[in-house]
Amino acid sequence: MKAEKLRVIYRKDYRPPDYRIEAVDLHFDLHEEETLVRAVLEVRRSEALLGDVPPLVLDGEELELLEVSLDGRPLEKREYQVDERSLRVDSPPAHFRLETLVRIRPQENTQLSGLYRSGGIFCTQCEAHGFRRITWFLDRPDVMARFQVRIDAERRRYPVLLSNGNRTATEELPDGRHRVSWEDPFPKPAYLFALVAGDLHCHAGNFRTRSGRDVRLEIWVEPENADRCAHALQALAKAMAWDEETFGLEYDLDLYMIVAVKDFNMGAMENKGLNVFNAKYVLALPETATDEEYEAIEAVIAHEYFHNWTGNRVTCRDWFQLTLKEGLTVFRDQSFSADMTSSAVKRIEDVRGLRSHQFAEDAGPMSHPIRPESYISMDNFYTATVYEKGAEVVRLYHTLLGAEGFRRGMDLYFQRHDGEAVTCDDFRVAMADANGRDLSRFEEWYQQSGTPRIQCDGVHDAEARRYTLTLEQCAGHADAETAPLPIPVALGLLDAEGRDLPLRLEGEAAAAAVPTRLLLLEERRQRFVFEGIESPPVPSLLRGFSAPVKLEFERMPEELAFLMAHDSDPFNRWEAGQQLAQQVLLDRVSSWGKGEPAPLPDAFVEAFGRLLADTTLDGSEKALSLTLPSEPLLGQALECIDVEAVHGAREFARAELARAHRGAFEDIYEREGASRPYRFEQEEVGRRRLANLCLRYLASLGEASTTEELERRFQEADNMTDRQVALGLLAEQSGPARERALEAFYEQWRGDPLVLDKWFSLHAQSPVPETCERVRALTRHPDFSLANPNRVRALLGAFAMGNPLRFHGADGAGYALLAEMVLAIDSRNPQLAARLVSAFNQWRRYDPARQELMGAQLETIAARRDLSSDVYEIVNRALAA
Ligand code: TRP
Ligand code: ZN
Repeated sequence: MKAEKLRVIYRKDYRPPDYRIEAVDLHFDLHEEETLVRAVLEVRRSEALLGDVPPLVLDGEELELLEVSLDGRPLEKREYQVDERSLRVDSPPAHFRLETLVRIRPQENTQLSGLYRSGGIFCTQCEAHGFRRITWFLDRPDVMARFQVRIDAERRRYPVLLSNGNRTATEELPDGRHRVSWEDPFPKPAYLFALVAGDLHCHAGNFRTRSGRDVRLEIWVEPENADRCAHALQALAKAMAWDEETFGLEYDLDLYMIVAVKDFNMGAMENKGLNVFNAKYVLALPETATDEEYEAIEAVIAHEYFHNWTGNRVTCRDWFQLTLKEGLTVFRDQSFSADMTSSAVKRIEDVRGLRSHQFAEDAGPMSHPIRPESYISMDNFYTATVYEKGAEVVRLYHTLLGAEGFRRGMDLYFQRHDGEAVTCDDFRVAMADANGRDLSRFEEWYQQSGTPRIQCDGVHDAEARRYTLTLEQCAGHADAETAPLPIPVALGLLDAEGRDLPLRLEGEAAAAAVPTRLLLLEERRQRFVFEGIESPPVPSLLRGFSAPVKLEFERMPEELAFLMAHDSDPFNRWEAGQQLAQQVLLDRVSSWGKGEPAPLPDAFVEAFGRLLADTTLDGSEKALSLTLPSEPLLGQALECIDVEAVHGAREFARAELARAHRGAFEDIYEREGASRPYRFEQEEVGRRRLANLCLRYLASLGEASTTEELERRFQEADNMTDRQVALGLLAEQSGPARERALEAFYEQWRGDPLVLDKWFSLHAQSPVPETCERVRALTRHPDFSLANPNRVRALLGAFAMGNPLRFHGADGAGYALLAEMVLAIDSRNPQLAARLVSAFNQWRRYDPARQELMGAQLETIAARRDLSSDVYEIVNRALAA
C-alpha cells in the first residue's frame, strides 16, 4: 500500500481553488496503441489570494507527459515538477495558457475510469476522479471551464466521434482519418466531460420544448442493437416533458445524446449533452427485457436527464456535497416514476429498497451521514445513503412545504445558483428563504449517521374525550452526541369502523379538513393532544413513510389486520401487512429447528386471503402486499442472523399460505396468467406481476403438475418477464427440468450479453445445495469474464448479495470464493472489487463460526500487498467494526 493512496480527505479541509481554468481546448488523437491528448488550459489566479504566489498544482494519473509549455514557451525541466499524481508549476503569472501533451493507453485501461475501450468503442467515465486520467487538470467540481474538443481518428473504425455540446466542424484528414470538433457553451466541471468514438448506430427522435425549440434526441448503440432503442427514446421524451411541467425546467442545448456501452462500472453518467449509459439501462425488447427492466430504464434515463439541471447547471462545490445532486435527482426520478405509474406502488418499492440497502448500510461499518465527513476513495461514497437516504431528506422538504412550497424553493435555488458549484447548505437555505421558514435545524439530517428511531405511546382519556400521543426520538447511533432531528410525522386516527377521524389538536378551534395531519417532532420527546376523540382510536403513523426512521410501536396482530383492511393510506395498509407477516415469520425463526414449526395464526392466513380477494387493489399493489418480507429484511430484525432459520421459516410460510389459498392462487393465475400480447403499460405489468406471484406460491408446493406448467410457460412465453420467472422457479428446484430449461436458455441467448447475464444470475440465486460449487464452476465458463462489470455482478454480485442461504453456507466456501474473486478483480478494476467486497460488511451480524470465517477472509484481503485504496477502505472499515 502506497502511503499516498491512503490519504484521508476531510470535508473540514475544503479550500477554494487558488487557480481557475476558464477555458480548455482538448485535442485527441486516437490510435490503437496509444492516444495523444493535447490540452491548452486558460488559467487565472484567484483574485482573493493574498501574500505569496501559490504554485499551480494540477491533478494527473497514469499520464506520460511529453510536452509542457507556458504561454507558448516550452518549460525547462527545473520550471516544473512531475510525480505520480501531480504536475506543479511554481510562481506562474496571474493569467496564462498552459499547454500539455500526454500519452495514454485507453486499450489497457481496465478500471473503466478515464478514457477506456468497451468492445470497439472509445468512451469516457470522469466522475468522480476520472478526468485526471485523461490529462493534467484541476480535477475538482468547483473548477468550471468552457470546453472545446477536437477528435481525430481512423474513419473506418470510428465513423462516429462525439463530445459535449454542439458539433462545430467535421474534416477529412490524410491516411483515412477524420476530425470532428465540438464546443460546449456551458462552463462545466471536468467530471462532466465525455468523449465517444466508434462504429455506432443512431436511433434519433425529436422533442419540441414548451418554448418551441426543437431538440434532436440521439441514442447511439452498437449496430446489432438498433432495434432495441424505442423504449429509451420514449422515456427520454417523457422525462423532458415532465420536468417542464413539474419544475418549469427546459433542456438547454439543441442536441441530447445517449450512448450505450457494454462495460460500465455503474448505471449511467450525466455528462453534459452526452450521457454514457450501461447498455442494461438502454436496450429493451419484450423478448429480452423484463417489466422491471423496462421500469429501470425509464427511471435511469430520467435520472440522468434531470441531472442536467440538478447536477450540471448547478453542480457540487466538492465531493462531500454529492447528495446535493444525487439525493435531489433521485427524489426527482422517484417523483417522475410515481407520476408515470402509481404513487402508492412506487413509494412502497422505494421504501423497500431503502430499508433493505440503506438501513443495512447505516447499521454497519460503512455508516455515514448523507454528507460524509471524510473519505479515502470517493468512489466508495456513491452509496445507498448518499442516494436513497439523500432523496428521503429532500422529500422531507417536500412533505413539510408541500408541492408548491417545494417548487418555490427550487425556483429560488436555480435563480440564485445557476452556473455555480454549491453546497447542501445553499439548497436548504433556498428552500427556507423561498418559504419564509427557518429550516436551520434540518442541518442535522446532513450531519448524523444511523437510522433514527421513534417510540410512540398513545393514551385515550374517555372522560376528557382526548387522545394523547407521545413521540420520542432516539439517534441512530446511541454513542454519538446529537441534537434532535426535525422529523415530519404524518398521522391519521381510525375509529372502530376503520374510518379516519377528524383531527383537532389541543388549542385549535376546528378539526382539519384532511384525514392526515403532519406533526413535526422537533424535540427529543413531544406530546400531541387530539380533542374530541370519543373512543380509543387506532393510530396510523408515519403515513406514506413521511421520514426515513424506524418506528417502534408494538401492535397486536388484530390491530395490524385491522389497519391492513381499513387504513386510508395505501403505504400504511401495505406496511401493516408486512409488520404482521414479520411478526409471524420471526416467531417461527426463533423456534426453528425445535420440532415442527407452529402452524400460521388464523388471523394472518385470513388477512392474506382478504388481500387475495380484494378487488380494489391494482395488480402491482396486490403483488407487493402478498410478498413476504425478504430474508435480509428479516435478518435486520434479529440480534444474530440465523440464515437457515430465516430461509426455512420464510419458505415454510410461503408453502403454508399456498396450501391454505391454493384455489384462489389457481383462479388468479388462470385469469391473469393467460398469454396476451406484451404491452408495457401499468395494467398489463400489474397482471403479469400478480400472475407470476401466484405461480411462485403454487411452485412452493413442489408438485409435478406445477413443474409441467413452469416448463410450458418457460417455452411458450413470448416475453422475458414471464419467461424469466418460469425459469427462475425451475432453477430453484433440483432435477432434470431445471437442467433442461437452463440449457435451452443458454443455447437460445448465448450471443446476447444482457440476456446471458440473467442466466448467470439465476444459477447464482438458486437455493439448491450445489449452488456455490456451480458458481465457482461458472467463474471458469467461457462466457464469464472479470473484465465486464455486468457479468461479474450477474454471477458474483447475485450470489453474494442475492443468495444469503448459499453465500453464507456453513462451510465458508462462498466466502472463500468471493474473497478470491475480489482479489482477482481488484488488480484490474478497484471500483468493482470494492462493491463486491462490501458483501462482507454485515459480517458482525452472524454467529461466531461465520464471523470467524468471514473475518479470516477479510484479513486475507487486507494483508494483500498493492491492494487498491478502494478495497482497502472498505475492508479496513469492516475489520474495525
Ligand atoms: N453520476 C452518476 C449518476 O448517479 C453516477 C456514476 C456513474 C458514477 N458512473 C460513475 C459514480 C462512476 C462514480 C463512478 O447518475
Ligand atoms: Zn445521479
